[in-house]
Amino acid sequence: MINFLEDLALIIFRIFPAEAAKNITLRLLKSIYSLNLIGIFASNNIEQPEIKLKNLSFKNRIGIAGGLDKNAEYFHIFSSLGFGFVEVGTVTLEPQAGNPKPRIFRFFKDKTIVNSLGFNNAGSVQVLENIKKHKPKFNGVLGISIGKSKNTKTKNAWQDYLHLMDYFYLEADYLAINISSPNTENLRELSARENIEFLMNKISKKKAQLVDMHKKKTPIFVKLSPDETEDNLKNIIHISEKNNIDGFICCNTTTEHSYQNSGGMSGAMLTKKAENLQKKIIKLKQDKSILIASGGVMSAEDVKVRLTHSADLVQLYTGYIYQGNSLLKKALIISSS
Ligand SMILES: Cc1cc2nc3c(=O)[nH]c(=O)nc-3n(C[C@H](O)[C@H](O)[C@H](O)COP(=O)(O)O)c2cc1C
Repeated sequence: MINFLEDLALIIFRIFPAEAAKNITLRLLKSIYSLNLIGIFASNNIEQPEIKLKNLSFKNRIGIAGGLDKNAEYFHIFSSLGFGFVEVGTVTLEPQAGNPKPRIFRFFKDKTIVNSLGFNNAGSVQVLENIKKHKPKFNGVLGISIGKSKNTKTKNAWQDYLHLMDYFYLEADYLAINISSPNTENLRELSARENIEFLMNKISKKKAQLVDMHKKKTPIFVKLSPDETEDNLKNIIHISEKNNIDGFICCNTTTEHSYQNSGGMSGAMLTKKAENLQKKIIKLKQDKSILIASGGVMSAEDVKVRLTHSADLVQLYTGYIYQGNSLLKKALIISSS
């Protein structure tokens, strides 16, 4: 039964256009969950001591990266499969259709994906509703990734982030500030020296207000681009830490690739770049800042390398798309040893 369903998912993955394949596979997963059959795929029997980071408690170090569950429809299912945490979103204030299709391209031989989705999502109202609906069935740590809308100008972007913080603060176990997607025009301008200080200062003040108002500390992480210059990387980390950011997610997709399709590349061809960036960040950041590794984690060995180089947590995306639960299982085993 397990093999039949896994084979079916792989066939769907290979024969349908990329975006349709992703949606069909996720719906298949939902049906299996509704039929109470998810347990047969779950990797919940790998014993792990609980991991405490900031004020959060993780059942293991392996999570789902931003963008797989954009509208918070599946996070409870990923937790029943064994993931310790799920980052939903990236969510914008209003619903957005994203960029024109086709906008996901798979390169099977290279085990990579190029995507130019552009924050297609159901918007903050619907996503919050979905979170409230599924959270009672969720057994894990919930990250919510927030981003500016396509039509928001760079100079007004801080207002989007602050509204979204207000909106999701209570439901999130952590918030991820996405300023590194390559598919929303000008988004990456936010990490430029002249903008990042202003944005982080606003976020820090809002966080202080929210902590005070809700008597709850929701950690805030910044998701970094692998395409930053060394100087700017230093700058972003320093300014973020000065403004009480709790950690970094390393990293988003890269625009430095040789495929004809425009967009950000993820998967095996990103592995080395993400790994090298992580090593740089570890030297630059303070010990108390959390590091979440993302980018080209395709094998148990990749998980091991990231953890050995001081990642606190590891996220899967493209590796999971290509390999499914067998990668989760291997990641859980290696991260618990
Ligand atoms: C189709 C697709 C959509 C993505 N959407 C988002 C997103 O909405 N927010 C985000 O922070 N990252 C997004 N990402 C980036 C992933 O979270 C991850 O950081 C990146 O793909 C590198 O990891 P990987 O090589 O393991 O896939 C997306 C990636 C892909 C492939």
